[in-house]
Amino acid sequence: MIVLSSDNMRILKELDMVVFRNRLKEFAVKIGMGLVNQTKLITAASELSRNMLRYAGGGTVLIEIVNGPQRQNGVRVTFSDNGPGIPNIEQAMKDGFSTGKSLGLGLPGAKRLVSDFDIKSTVGKGTTITIIKWKNG
Ligand SMILES: Nc1ncnc2c1ncn2[C@@H]1O[C@H](COP(=O)(O)OP(=O)(O)O)[C@@H](O)[C@H]1O
Ligand SMILES: [Mg+2]
Repeated sequence: MIVLSSDNMRILKELDMVVFRNRLKEFAVKIGMGLVNQTKLITAASELSRNMLRYAGGGTVLIEIVNGPQRQNGVRVTFSDNGPGIPNIEQAMKDGFSTGKSLGLGLPGAKRLVSDFDIKSTVGKGTTITIIKWKNG
């Protein structure tokens, strides 16, 4: 994967999420992503950054414009936190599973909205989630 441009920021409070969403939109617009895919990407990213804030007390996001071997013009976003981690990823990825008494649709919903979804988590260490949304997909 070739990285064409990137930006990195911390998410420690609600306002950071607003700044992040605006920055993400700028990147999506820069590669000419259509409104529907922009909205899918931003909705997924909002859920994942909200989880980071809620369950891990914050973390960092890395936004990148990428070109792959098969597909060009993608936005990749990596969410990294040093929170408690997720003990059972399979369970956490199921619709309706929540330890926070909310809808439990954040992770599975985000996965459905993007082209690529990768989650790694270690209990006591933290969680890293990477998503990619291609311009045409
Ligand atoms: N960054 C994270 N760190 C630790 N646990 C997380 C994180 N993100 C999600 N989780 C866990 O996965 C569960 C499912 O997340 P999600 O699908 O967004 O549903 P909800 O946020 O409504 O609970 C959460 O309830 C929480 O237990
Ligand atoms: Mg959630």
